[in-house]
Amino acid sequence: MGLPANGCAGDKQLKFLIYGRTGWIGGLLGKLCEAQSIPFVYGSGRLENRSSLEADIAAVNPSHVFNAAGVTGRPNVDWCESHKVETIRTNVVGTLTLADVCREKGLILINYATGCIFEYDSIHTLGSGVGFKEEDTPNFIGSYYSKTKAMVEDLLRNYENVCTLRVRMPISSDLSNPRNFITKITRYEKVVDIPNSMTILDELLPISIEMAKRNLTGIWNFTNPGVVSHNEILEMYRDYVDPSFTWKNFTLEEQAKVIVAPRSNNELDASKLKKEFPQLLSIKDSLVKYVFQPNAKLAAP
Ligand SMILES: NC(=O)c1ccc[n+]([C@@H]2O[C@H](COP(=O)([O-])OP(=O)(O)OC[C@H]3O[C@@H](n4cnc5c(N)ncnc54)[C@H](OP(=O)(O)O)[C@@H]3O)[C@@H](O)[C@H]2O)c1
Repeated sequence: MGLPANGCAGDKQLKFLIYGRTGWIGGLLGKLCEAQSIPFVYGSGRLENRSSLEADIAAVNPSHVFNAAGVTGRPNVDWCESHKVETIRTNVVGTLTLADVCREKGLILINYATGCIFEYDSIHTLGSGVGFKEEDTPNFIGSYYSKTKAMVEDLLRNYENVCTLRVRMPISSDLSNPRNFITKITRYEKVVDIPNSMTILDELLPISIEMAKRNLTGIWNFTNPGVVSHNEILEMYRDYVDPSFTWKNFTLEEQAKVIVAPRSNNELDASKLKKEFPQLLSIKDSLVKYVFQPNAKLAAP
């Protein structure tokens, strides 16, 4: 840690090279840089094409590289089950190539990864408050997406220039965005009801920029502390946004019949992030402050 007084990374002025221009997280990151007057350029290379990444770095001469590129599948991660080579190409070959090129150029890579590589087990039981820590070995390989993300995380541990951010069930204040976890569960016909760790992007993406400024590396559970269940979120949605909203629950067994690959449910221990950023809000407080209160104002007559 320890930023020089001029706010620069080392001797270099901040300049970010960002992958994922057309994506959700990459798009939000660019807007944040604009708002904070941080110079940035979106990478035009494809992750699996090493020379295209080298060309981007040569042209931009960045202080830090951000990777918000990856395949998540459309309409959902089930796509990865039937597109394994495409999933490997971007999420494995591509991510590792970018990390390797950045290392060669002496650059820190802030990598938006996933926390969907764990599931509740006999030590980390549902409701116990015992979350998975950064050093824990992934135990969820139920979907091909998660399986390959877990493999890559393990390999990236060896890259001392990489900051791995385990994002989970990302939520933003834009409730019209179909990628938003809240938007998804308000539109499903039926939802399960399981407490999970989640990432409020409005609060945490600015923190990822600050992490770059502090030149932090290693693995980070990138979620708000604590857990929130589907029903708790939907109750808040009803109370703040739409008093007429109703929903139906179903069990994990019933859910299994309408999806191809199982989904991960877990609690991540966010104490490492909280120690670095003591102002970090709990998941429920963050939901109220960053998502529901702003949307309640909009909904007011
Ligand atoms: N959304 C979630 O629920 C979630 C949860 C946890 C973690 N994450 C992780 O966070 C990252 C970003 O997620 P997101 O939701 O913002 O994804 P997204 O909206 O699907 O955007 C993905 C971005 O990656 C780019 N991309 C895909 N393949 C590429 C390649 N081979 N080379 C260069 N760019 C490529 C896409 O550009 P093109 O359109 O040009 O291909 C797009 O800009 C992903 O790694 C994802 O696994 C997401």
